[in-house]
Amino acid sequence: MTDRGRAGAPVLLQVDSSADRRAGSVTRELGAAYARGWLARHPDGVRRYRDLAAAPVPPLGQGYVSLGTRVERHGVVPPEKVAALAEGADEEREWAVSLPLITEVREATTLLVGAPMYNFSVPAALKAWIDRITFPGAYVDPDGGGSLLAGVRVVVVAACGGGYGAGAPRAGWDFQVPYLRAYFVNLGVAEGEVRVVRAEFTRAGDVAGLGRFREAAVRGLARARGEVAALAAEG
Ligand SMILES: Cc1cc2nc3c(=O)[nH]c(=O)nc-3n(C[C@H](O)[C@H](O)[C@H](O)COP(=O)(O)O)c2cc1C
Repeated sequence: MTDRGRAGAPVLLQVDSSADRRAGSVTRELGAAYARGWLARHPDGVRRYRDLAAAPVPPLGQGYVSLGTRVERHGVVPPEKVAALAEGADEEREWAVSLPLITEVREATTLLVGAPMYNFSVPAALKAWIDRITFPGAYVDPDGGGSLLAGVRVVVVAACGGGYGAGAPRAGWDFQVPYLRAYFVNLGVAEGEVRVVRAEFTRAGDVAGLGRFREAAVRGLARARGEVAALAAEG
């Protein structure tokens, strides 16, 4: 049985990663709207929240790598048995930081990821969380070897200052949304359950060269708000 099965009620794990913690963050606004809608749809639901900008997850240390390598040599080791394989204070410390984050993901029925585009990819704060939760075997079902995330929905609320749609000069430079899709599908989330809502041209009002995209930005944000509301109503 998975952790989710034991918990019973649906669990939304929401992570924000925008360094902009004031009211202007688009991903924080879209994420909050989704969470509100999800809670309305699931009155019995539990929302867990991590602000990866306010409380950063530390980058991986030596102990994470050496413990992970030893665990991999043992095949699939469920998280509750990893501590017994730790050698020394460094590995124990790394595992003590990682286990609660991994447990949160294992217990979630919906993952909500706020992901701004930073330098064509995701913020380092989000990447640090991703690296840490992706411990060997953490999402493998020990009964049968499938993924514990096979029934999970992932909602990515993304934003970027420019535009990366088909035909845009930088269409091939988007390492934000394709990266997140590949990452979650690789963990075992069904392709159709990785749902992405992205607002583009969010910097059109600030960057002179993007001025002609102001209308597109306003329309794009309105569309993103509508998509988030519709997704939250879905479940
Ligand atoms: C450090 C940093 C790097 C950024 N890099 C890019 C980029 O490579 N491409 C882009 O289109 N926008 C870039 N932006 C703009 C953000 O993607 C945009 O402002 C987005 O709305 C940020 O999400 P937020 O509103 O939730 O903070 C960058 C912004 C910051 C702060």
